[in-house]
Amino acid sequence: MKPKVFIAKPISRQVENYIAEHCEYKIWREEERIPDDILFREIQDVQGLMIPKAKVTESFIKQAPNLKIISHISVGYDTLDTDLMAKHKIIGTHTPYVLDHTVADLIFGLILSSSRRISQLDHYVKDGKWNKLDDPSFLSKDVHHATLGIIGMGRIGEQVAKRAAQGFDMNVLYYNRRPRPEVEEKYGLKRESMEQLLKKSDFVLTMVPLTEETHHLIGARELKQMKEDALLINASRGQVVDEKALIHALKEGIIGGAGLDVFEKEPVDPSNSLLKMDNVVTTPHIGSATAQAREAMALKAAENLVAGVTGGKPKNIVKE
Ligand code: DGY
Repeated sequence: MKPKVFIAKPISRQVENYIAEHCEYKIWREEERIPDDILFREIQDVQGLMIPKAKVTESFIKQAPNLKIISHISVGYDTLDTDLMAKHKIIGTHTPYVLDHTVADLIFGLILSSSRRISQLDHYVKDGKWNKLDDPSFLSKDVHHATLGIIGMGRIGEQVAKRAAQGFDMNVLYYNRRPRPEVEEKYGLKRESMEQLLKKSDFVLTMVPLTEETHHLIGARELKQMKEDALLINASRGQVVDEKALIHALKEGIIGGAGLDVFEKEPVDPSNSLLKMDNVVTTPHIGSATAQAREAMALKAAENLVAGVTGGKPKNIVKE
């Protein structure tokens, strides 16, 4: 008998066929997020769950006494309580590697859009305001040869560093607990203390996973250490930046602007002050949202799922 699994989001025919070869399965095929009551009902007799993000709590686990694996379709796994899962002998997996380039591309989009004010000036043109020849308000900030400080030098940070150093002749600094001499050598990076990185960078990028240690890693004190015209870019997790402190810093001109793909609360509240600021560029947590990357993530998640329910060892078990 095939093991039973539940897939909590629509997937491609190719990924579905792969799962069908190995498992008895049901899929949530709607585009909107699966409501909790339906999810809880569907996981009651399954051994495997594949889901973009699961908020794993005791009551969640109670609903699914046979669950062996939660296969996350994302690289970040801050919503998985790894201790709780270990206690209940449930494996957690994620989807690293396949989205590194895609997220790095989006980060560059945020860097370019916030510095060259692309989305702001797009509205300017579309609103018919382009009537002066040399409007000084068009002037923006160079990206090439500027200094980029990357906080967190993992796989995505490395891809951003490569683009910055090799494509834009940027001076790239990084802050990481563990030195990365091979990356330093490859792209001419310099490791700095957090304070020096904040002081020297024209662009500060937070690229760390969300943990207790990185929660509000960038707060009022750190923002004050940044240059007055520096731009903060965040495409990791919203909670890495203290949003209240960021709003204050942007209102008071303590920093120059921000490019944000993530927010402390998602979907972001429409009344959030960040959405009303001209010097803030936003996207709705779409770092990995290309057709190619999402397909690769789904396939990887499916492979992890199938391994987990058929007695194999999934490749991408999350670290405790
Ligand atoms: C990830 O994969 O962690 C992306 O941020 C999407 O959640």
